[in-house]
Amino acid sequence: MVTNPISNAEPKMRARDVSVYYGTKKAIDAVSIDIPTEYVTAFIGPSGCGKSTFLRTLNRMNDTIASARVEGRIELDGEDIYESGMDVVQLRARVGMVFQKPNPFPKSIYENVAYGPRIHGFAEGKADLDAVVERSLRRAGLWEEVKDRLEDSGTALSGGQQQRLCIARAIAVEPEVILMDEPCSALDPIATAKIEELIDELRGRYAIVIVTHSMQQAARVSQRTAFFHLGHMVEYGETSQIFTTPRETRTQDYITGRYG
Ligand SMILES: Nc1ncnc2c1ncn2[C@@H]1O[C@H](COP(=O)(O)OP(=O)(O)O)[C@@H](O)[C@H]1O
Ligand SMILES: [Mg+2]
Repeated sequence: MVTNPISNAEPKMRARDVSVYYGTKKAIDAVSIDIPTEYVTAFIGPSGCGKSTFLRTLNRMNDTIASARVEGRIELDGEDIYESGMDVVQLRARVGMVFQKPNPFPKSIYENVAYGPRIHGFAEGKADLDAVVERSLRRAGLWEEVKDRLEDSGTALSGGQQQRLCIARAIAVEPEVILMDEPCSALDPIATAKIEELIDELRGRYAIVIVTHSMQQAARVSQRTAFFHLGHMVEYGETSQIFTTPRETRTQDYITGRYG
């Protein structure tokens, strides 16, 4: 079983024998992995190998896909997130998600960030909410660019700014884990570099999991890398080890560009 060969610390999230089906088709086969906090974990592998499917199991986003069925166990701080008593709205605040295409609400910059804290009761009154909005935008590296136009629409920002706004929105509800599914794939190289810097600044506070099809990006931003192939997690280890001395032939073939 490939779980966490690196650290003896309690993992933030723990997956055991997780399989995912779409109808009768198995997309993920018995994946077990420990996700540490204060690190960036990258999921890499060829298109269609199940990276997004597995990522979505970590905050039950697959619940929104009618044909999807998840087997196995996933824990957040030791608690089974698929148990019947789990509040999924609460779960998705604790395990936030940033998507491939920036998806701000069609509302003001301020509202994009304020919405979550307001409905989750993280702020009492206007001054409190203002402070949460400012802190989240600062942490997402966007405050200086938007502080004078908080009432402008979030959708009027550039792509890179929109993605940082989505990160600010996720941060605003004080998550413990942030899942990012190819967060830079719609961005230019400069906006991508900004997001990568930001991920590095954020990692001390959260467990971050990033799906990326770019091995260079995985090498730049992550400390742990899991390689997926055809629904299996083939290998998981320290990023430098995966890229220099992979244990599995399939990992070796992938990182040397033999397929994918
Ligand atoms: N909503 C869905 N319905 C049916 N099949 C899906 C759905 N999403 C993904 N799949 C299938 O599951 C497999 C894994 O897909 P995905 O998790 O998107 O891979 P990746 O993110 O690594 O590119 C693929 O064969 C894909 O076609
Ligand atoms: Mg994907």
